[in-house]
Amino acid sequence: MSETPADYKGPQRVLSGMQPTGRLHLGNYLGALKNWVALQDNGDLDCFYCVVDMHAITMPHDPRALPDAVRAAAAAYIAAGVDPDKSTIFAQSAVPAHAELAWIFNCVARLGWLERMTQFKDKAGKDSERASVGLFTYPVLQAADILVYKATHVPVGEDQKQHLELCRDIAARFNRDYGDGEAIFPLTDPVIQGPGARIMSLRDGSAKMSKSDVSDNSRINLEDDADAIARKIKKAKTDPEPLPSEEAGLETRPEASNLVGIYAALTGKTKADVLAEFGGQGFGAFKPALADVAVEYLAPISDEFRRLISDKAEIDRILSKGAEHARAVADPVVSETKRIVGFWH
Ligand code: TRP
Repeated sequence: MSETPADYKGPQRVLSGMQPTGRLHLGNYLGALKNWVALQDNGDLDCFYCVVDMHAITMPHDPRALPDAVRAAAAAYIAAGVDPDKSTIFAQSAVPAHAELAWIFNCVARLGWLERMTQFKDKAGKDSERASVGLFTYPVLQAADILVYKATHVPVGEDQKQHLELCRDIAARFNRDYGDGEAIFPLTDPVIQGPGARIMSLRDGSAKMSKSDVSDNSRINLEDDADAIARKIKKAKTDPEPLPSEEAGLETRPEASNLVGIYAALTGKTKADVLAEFGGQGFGAFKPALADVAVEYLAPISDEFRRLISDKAEIDRILSKGAEHARAVADPVVSETKRIVGFWH
């Protein structure tokens, strides 16, 4: 883990979030949730994990489906090992401080910074004139999510690095413009760990495993049962060559590299270890072994997920307790910020 800025004196805090769109999958788990749990279990960090439903409305969405999608995301966090007694789990929209700070940060961030954001370009597509203004300022709200808790560490996937850079730029600019030489906000560090940080689609080794992919065969969902997992792995795109014995042999073989990477992440081995075991064997042998590992690994998570999702009252209780705690931490930060920028008291 890299260091918190030396001149920042606040506590070490962790914040991360995921959108409540669609179902969570193995890529979310190995690329993010696993790190969330590791940071929580690290012991001396205060962890905040939110479901970012305010980000979810930056794109067309179904209002009737959103509350259950928030519950499903929270259930996935818990099933993956985020413990509501150790970490604060909540819905972003239940803490108005995020939106208040986002407005102030909209006036700190520069248009040119946002115009460089690649996720906006990807999501807006060709006809970006028709994208919502919210989609454009999405990364500013993300910075508010983080800094409203003065979070020092944010576990995220590779693809969020640029948004984290923007968050640091906003904090630095705010500190410079308003701080009087003092670091009001920390320069937050991304925490990107492990071989699982980039899990790719099972149908295309060059695209990230994604909940918005039209093909359900492209991903392993946290709630898939053993049969579905085995079937999807069997169908996964590969090439006709046997596995190489050395990692260099994977360089031009994105699909093979992805499957070996998933096996490694699930077993806690390195890719080199996996190739030492399976090098020279074809996918006819490797895929069933991978399916076994994935089923064994995911079974307890998907069982717990299914149990939780059928108990809405329990999830709602966890989310309201989490929101209450989150508000208690965020509200004073927003009050301080409003005072600093000169808002009416
Ligand atoms: N943009 C993130 C993603 O697409 C989700 C997110 C919103 C987030 N707010 C955040 C992640 C704050 C980390 C911290 O994955």
